This record gives sequence, C-alpha cells and structure tokens, in this order.
Amino acid sequence: MNVISRTLSVLGICAFAAIANGREVKLSDWMFSRNGGPAERVRVPHDWAISGPFDPFAPGGTGKLPWIADGVYTAKFVLDEVPAHARLEFDGVMADPEVFVNGVSVGGWDYGYVSFWCDFTHVARKGENVVVVKASTRHLQSRWYPGGGIYREVKLVTDEADYVVPGSVFIRANLDENNRATVTASWRMSLSGEKTKTFTVFEPRLWDVNDPFLYKIQIGGKTYRYGIRKFEWTVDDGFHLNGRRVQIKGVNLHSDLGPLGMAFDVDAARRQLLIMKDMGVNAVRTAHNAPASQFLDLCDEMGFLVWDECFDKWNETAGRRPGQNLEDFVVRNLKRFVERDRNHPSVVCWSVSNEIAPKGTIWGGADGQSRERNKLFRDTVRKLDPTRPVTAGLASLSLLDSDCVADLDLQGWNYEHTYAAARAKYPSVAFVYSESASALSSRGFYRIPQTRGKTDFPEDIRQVDGYDLTSAWCGDIPDVEFNRIDNDRYVAGEFIWTGIDYIGEPNPFTYMGRPDCWPGPQVSEDTKPRSSYFGAVDLCCLPKDRFWLYRSLWNKNAETVHILPHWNWEGNKAALERGVPVVVYTSGDSAELFLNGRSLGRRTKLKNLPSYSLDFAGRNPPIGDVATNAYYAVCAKYRLRWEDVPYEPGELRVVATREGCKIAEAVVRTASEPARIVLSEDLYTPLGSKMAFIKVSVADSSGVQCPLDSREVFFSVEGDAEIVAVCNGNAMDFSSFEDVSSHRLFNGAAVLYVRRGRGKSVLTASAPGLAPCSFGL
Ligand code: GAL
Repeated sequence: MNVISRTLSVLGICAFAAIANGREVKLSDWMFSRNGGPAERVRVPHDWAISGPFDPFAPGGTGKLPWIADGVYTAKFVLDEVPAHARLEFDGVMADPEVFVNGVSVGGWDYGYVSFWCDFTHVARKGENVVVVKASTRHLQSRWYPGGGIYREVKLVTDEADYVVPGSVFIRANLDENNRATVTASWRMSLSGEKTKTFTVFEPRLWDVNDPFLYKIQIGGKTYRYGIRKFEWTVDDGFHLNGRRVQIKGVNLHSDLGPLGMAFDVDAARRQLLIMKDMGVNAVRTAHNAPASQFLDLCDEMGFLVWDECFDKWNETAGRRPGQNLEDFVVRNLKRFVERDRNHPSVVCWSVSNEIAPKGTIWGGADGQSRERNKLFRDTVRKLDPTRPVTAGLASLSLLDSDCVADLDLQGWNYEHTYAAARAKYPSVAFVYSESASALSSRGFYRIPQTRGKTDFPEDIRQVDGYDLTSAWCGDIPDVEFNRIDNDRYVAGEFIWTGIDYIGEPNPFTYMGRPDCWPGPQVSEDTKPRSSYFGAVDLCCLPKDRFWLYRSLWNKNAETVHILPHWNWEGNKAALERGVPVVVYTSGDSAELFLNGRSLGRRTKLKNLPSYSLDFAGRNPPIGDVATNAYYAVCAKYRLRWEDVPYEPGELRVVATREGCKIAEAVVRTASEPARIVLSEDLYTPLGSKMAFIKVSVADSSGVQCPLDSREVFFSVEGDAEIVAVCNGNAMDFSSFEDVSSHRLFNGAAVLYVRRGRGKSVLTASAPGLAPCSFGL
C-alpha cells in the first residue's frame, strides 16, 4: 500500500512536492523566528546568518556574520490518515536541534554536520500536524563560518510498520579476477529483521573518475544507486583505481556555497564541482565535516573520489559540551556518518579527524588524539564498513614521537612535506598529502614591485598578490607541491587547501595584530576581511589565475594557455617605471610572447631543476627578488615568465607549443574607457539548472573587459525570476550578499545568483554613464 500519496496534503504555509516513489516529501516551506523575533516565511535549506548584516568588528575568522543565535522553525502538514510509521529526516541542522511534533519532543542531534532522523509515529495525527525545530549555535565554536539553522534538506517519510531502518542499507560489490562482480545488499527491517540479496554482474561497467557509471537497485520500494569499482591505497605506488595508478589531484572544500552561505543548493554545488572538474580535479576532501548527502550524490555522478571527513577536532568545534564523554560522542557520530555515506562509490576513505595534537600535550589537552582513541574510532568504522581505509588529517611531526597514528589504515599528512618524515617511521603504510599549498591570492590583484617571499604580505591593503607567489606560513606555492608529488611516487597525490574560497579564515590577515603569530603593528578587527584567499577560484566561483596554473598541469583533456596579469597599467607609477612581469600558465612546454606584434622572446619550462631548489619545507624560506630567490626556482618547471616587460598599451599575445607544435594561443588587451555593462551566463552553469549564475562585467566600446572596474551596478528583474544573492569575490566587501538591488564589482566582475521563474524573465543591469544590459532568463 502506498500510504503517503493519500496521507499528505498541502496546508497553509506548507507546500509539498511528492518526490521519488511518493513516500517521501521535502519540507521546504517554514516559518522562522530568530532570537524570539517576529516570524518570517523561509525556504529550507536556510542559513539564518547569510543575509547579514556583516559586522566589521566581529571576528573575520568566522566570517563577521551573525551566526551565533537561537532559531525556531515551524512547518505544518496534513495526514489524511495516521501512517504505520512516520519520521522526519534531517540532513543537517546547525546546531543542537530539538524536534517537536504536535508539541512533543521527538528527538534531536548534537553535531550540526551529521544527519539524523526522528520517528514521530507515536504522535502523528490524522489532519494537521505541526513540526517545530529549535536550534542554537550558542554552544558551538568554529574556526570558519558554520552558518545557522536548517541548512540542508528535510524529508517527511511515511511507511509501513515493517520499514527499512534508515542507515541500515549496505551495498557491496566485489570484483573478482574474472571481471565478475558479486553484489551483496543487506538491510534491516524494523519488524522482520535482517535481509540480504546477492547477485552477480558479469563484465560490469566500472565506476571511474572518467566514466562514473552507476547501477540501481530497489530495496523496500526505494531506489538506491551503487557503483562497481576496485581501489587500493598502495604503499609504494599511490592510489590505484580499477587496476591503474590514478594520481589524486584533489581539493579541500568547506561546506559553504559562497554568497548562499551554508544553505545547500544542488545547482550551486554542481557548479562548484564543474569548475573543479575543468581544473582537472578528480578528488575532494570534505574539510572538515560530513557534507550534504546530495553533495556525495554529485560526486558519484560526476566522478570525484571523496575523502569523507567527519570531524575537525573532537571538542566544542564539533558542538561537544564540556563534560560530555568524548569517546561516546565521537563513536555515535561516526556511526551515523558511515551508515549514511557507505553506499557512495565516490567515497574512498573515512577520516576521523583533522590536525588533532596528541592527548596530554599543550595543544592536545584532554581532547587530543591517542593510539587508543584512533583504534576505537577505526574499529567503529570498520564494523560498519570493512571496505575502506580509516584515516585522519595529521599535522606536526611531534605526532611521530608517540604511536598515536600507528593503527590508522592510511595516513594523510598536512603541509611541509611531513609525509616524507612519517614514511620513514611507517614504511608499510600508504600516504596521501591531505592538505597542501594553502596558497593565497585575490582575483585580479597584482603587486608591483613584486612579492619578495612566500609570506611577504602587504600591511596596508587586505588583498593578496595574484602572481601566485605566497602561501600560509605552513604551506607552499603550488609549484613546490607539484614538484614534491612529481618526485614522491609513493604518495597518492595532494588535496590542495583550497579549491574554492570560503567564508571565514581570511588568512594571513586573520592574524594581524596578534603578536604570537604576526610580528608588526596592532590592527583593529574592522580592518580585517571576511572570507578566505586560499581558493583557486574566488567566493563566487570566478577563476583566479591559480585556477589556470592547476589546470595547465592537471587537466589532461584540454589545452591551457593563460596570460597574467591584465594589461591596464596606465597611471601605475611603479609599473611604468619598472615594467610588468608577464607570466604564462600553459599545458605546453614553451611559449612565445608578443607585445603589439613584436616578439618578446620564447621561454621553455625546465625539465630538471637544480638540486638546491628542491625543498624549502619550513616556515622561513628565503626573502628576495623573484628572479633570484631560490624559493621560486622551482617555478621554472611549471610556469613561463618574462621579467619586467616595459608597459605600453595594446595587445599581449602568447603562442604556446609542445615539442615545437602550436597547441593554443591567448590574448590580453588594454581596455579603453568603460562603455557598457555586460551580462553573461557563467561557463559552469549546470545544464537544466534552476539557478542561473550570471556574470556582470564592464567593457569598453570594442568589448574588452575593464579589469579594474569597481563601480556599483544596479539590478532589476522583470518576471518571476528572483535574484537570491550577489557576490564579487572581494574579501573586504561588507555589503550583504542578499542586498541584490545593487553591488560593487571587484576587479571588473561580480556574479548574480538568480532563481529562474516559471515564465520568461528579463534581468537588467545598469550604472550611470554606461549602456545598460538585459539578459533573458
Ligand atoms: C590547516 C587546517 C585548515 C586551514 C588551513 C589554513 O592547518 O587544517 O583547516 O585552517 O590550515 O592554512
């Protein structure tokens, strides 16, 4: 009997859409009240803090947004009859949610990143039912922006009395030497207990990063997807997928979606992954928490390997209360996490923590890691999934003084080439570089005179040079990391910190004014930014130059040739006096540069580097001019550079070649006077997306984009499409993402996030003195 189609109907504020097999509906229409204030109608997933306002004096580390709050959500639904079983499934609520149905508490959860469900059969009523969710972030601590509220999907599920227990389904596929897969699906029914189904798939089409093929299976009337693939983290030869070595070209990603905040949106997430795919990325680490379920669905569909991580620390940053037993808290959350995610073929390891210091040390204290804890957590995971290794993000070689990490199946080491030292102690363990780079830049911003060292940051301006010469103290520029991975074949590859900018952690400026970290003048909080500089793409997913550097090495399906910087240096005294360094990122091996048709010479990448330049692990690499600084010698292997090109307006053109044959060319032109606004659909907009991502820029009368424009642009929509957010990627911009009537550009661009309507709509952008632009949606 299909209960739900008869038992649910629409009432008042709630609009239900039946999905899948008709036994689940998404609850997306809620009333919300913040800190006891008036109720407003909201759409769930919802982030109660993303609309702001930004408080410039609040800590930049968590994004300067008002996420610390209490919130109450209310929704109503109608049941035509009382079902045999009814539950609410929450993919994530930040934080500490307690759920009430018809005035009775039916459950909750204490870790905002982990999914949970509440059985409310005993209080379900025929007719109107009211669900109230109370959440609070007051006990949460965070190192980045965590958002607040019901920020992921909620599903209302009704079922038979004998239903498939959520999280009990486990589908395994074992591939044998004769290319036959034995598929075993097991699950538990609430009344009739354990069930199993086993069958063989002959010559299966394997799930792979290049061909992410998914099979389907019906269990309890619901469709589950699974993949058949074989993988191994080898000790000496990195990661193998379906019998071949696949280098992990990975990115760390936080959960926020830029100007949408933590409110999950499948189109925005798909766009993030599409741009990462084009960069050549094949793996994602979900730093540092369980992601949205739908995010893993996308990774399954799009062919990303996933390092699925449950925790950063096991303390109050996970919402653990003082006095709450650590082991019980972690074990309970790990169980939920693994049960939810173990059917995703994309997931290839489980991470139980990130950068936790040893127990009993100054940094680790009582909540630190120990051999016993790691073993307990590994065994907890293994019981639920013996098919994937258990790992952790490890930092600081002091961990090697103890045996803390001895029982992990796989070791992920963060920064400073530490994995090499760890391998000396654990020669029979597999390694991956779980965090690398922490390279920094602002999109479209270039410093002349040039940066003189990897931690040479300007004191007077909160932007980071775009020539890709800087990183966090613990990190390194991309080229240094590339070179390590080229040399250390046993390491499976790297997960860079980060693929995409995120809200919070605006390092290095987070630390300005903290004498323990940043020598120099004290600065007040309001001079610090709101979002990170780590991304290869910015907060609204526009590529920085670094995107092209990774793409040139990682994307083997497309040629790359990219010139930096822009070519509008009029009025810049330093550039006019010294000339402008020109850099080319290309998948070719050499290139010739032309300025206004005159050759400025050919440059060729070095194949072998002098040994002195191989490794500068450590926080104090040399300071000095780029051209002579030994730290930057490694760049000659991965990028091409023309020193101090005398500036003259016009056209820079580069022709890239491989083994003497032309592969591609690129051009950068000087823009003249701004003439008109340009609206264009972002290149990475997913097909059929309900959200349109529209890039806003300014061009001169010949259509050349003005790279430095920062004017305010005004927006309007005719029709039922809705601009839900706007963002320009400037970490120092404190105007609300949701004040969509106007926004400033940053270095020539911004992106509008527009929910398409049912009918046709027209978006118009205008600014005084420029020709406006309209775009049909
Ligand atoms: C790492 C940490 C990340 C991020 C990064 C910034 O140590 O694991 O969460 O903070 O540093 O460089």
